[in-house]
Amino acid sequence: MTLSRTDTALLEDVPGFVRLRVKEVVRETAEASSLVFDVPATLTGTFRYRPGQFLTLRHEVGGEVLFRNYSLASAPGVDADLKVTIKRVTDGRVSNSLLDTVVAGAELLVMPPKGIFCLRQGTVPVVLFAAGSGITPVISILKQLLTSTERKVTLVYANRDPEQIIFREELSRLHERYGARMRLVHRLDSIQSILSAAEVQGYADSATEYYLCGPAPFMATVREGLIQGGVCEVRVFLESFDPVAAEVQPAEAPSEGESARVVLRYKGEEHQIAVGQGETIHAAAARQGLNLPFSCRAAFCGLCIARVTAGSVHLQDNLGGITDAQIAEGLTLTCQALVDSAKASVVFD
Ligand code: FES
Repeated sequence: MTLSRTDTALLEDVPGFVRLRVKEVVRETAEASSLVFDVPATLTGTFRYRPGQFLTLRHEVGGEVLFRNYSLASAPGVDADLKVTIKRVTDGRVSNSLLDTVVAGAELLVMPPKGIFCLRQGTVPVVLFAAGSGITPVISILKQLLTSTERKVTLVYANRDPEQIIFREELSRLHERYGARMRLVHRLDSIQSILSAAEVQGYADSATEYYLCGPAPFMATVREGLIQGGVCEVRVFLESFDPVAAEVQPAEAPSEGESARVVLRYKGEEHQIAVGQGETIHAAAARQGLNLPFSCRAAFCGLCIARVTAGSVHLQDNLGGITDAQIAEGLTLTCQALVDSAKASVVFD
């Protein structure tokens, strides 16, 4: 992403990051709050985003510089300001520190929006599955669906109990206004038990698109139920918040929409990954149930590095996650790597 000369005046020494002021901190639940950002007029282009994308925050905890991605819960054209929502988690150093320390007026170092968990063009109905704070990118996509399309949409939102429901009022208002084509299903573990793959099959339909975000076990269950219900994998889109998510064996790779086939070796096992047009190796693997290491998904942490042993790839972006020497040596950032050849082989070990 290129910043204009005016914008660079606001840049810190950290390449790719911009200092933004927090306009407001909104308490959503006992465990979750939203940070609303004040984006100066000179930076509106830089911070233009698509529903489902995330911001990367650079935050110091105990003298250590850490990076975390937070999905935007706001939607362009619906919400005036950019907003991310953060939930307190056990051992969540950055999330908990942000919740404990950030107040209105604070400044944070923020990377412009990134991410490919976005609504695909089309007219088919959409089912959104979210659990806990996984609602953040999902509500953004929901608002886009309701305000910019005529598509039918079902939201299945799972939480432990009613007190955990984030955006409860906003979801109710959307449902009241768009009820004719919006179905809202609150799924509470404390009352109905945990969502099962068998139950998910009830939502499976071959002519529907599915968007999933939540903890890895939740997404594995939903994905399993959909596949068992006959849904083609290319219609299932996932966003994972877990750096090391549960291992799920990939199912048969799809041929529809495929532009390359990658043989991926990870933890001593080989996986066949079908990569779609404009899709990174990392995103394609996640879509097919293989969760590879990552942290930033924004080209600077280097956690997703792997070696390309056959075929060719190019990087969408590189913000220091990999050096030129490493690239020359055959390494790549899988969160940024687009496959140029019809076939490629990538080794993670
Ligand atoms: Fe950080 Fe790819 S996940 S560079």
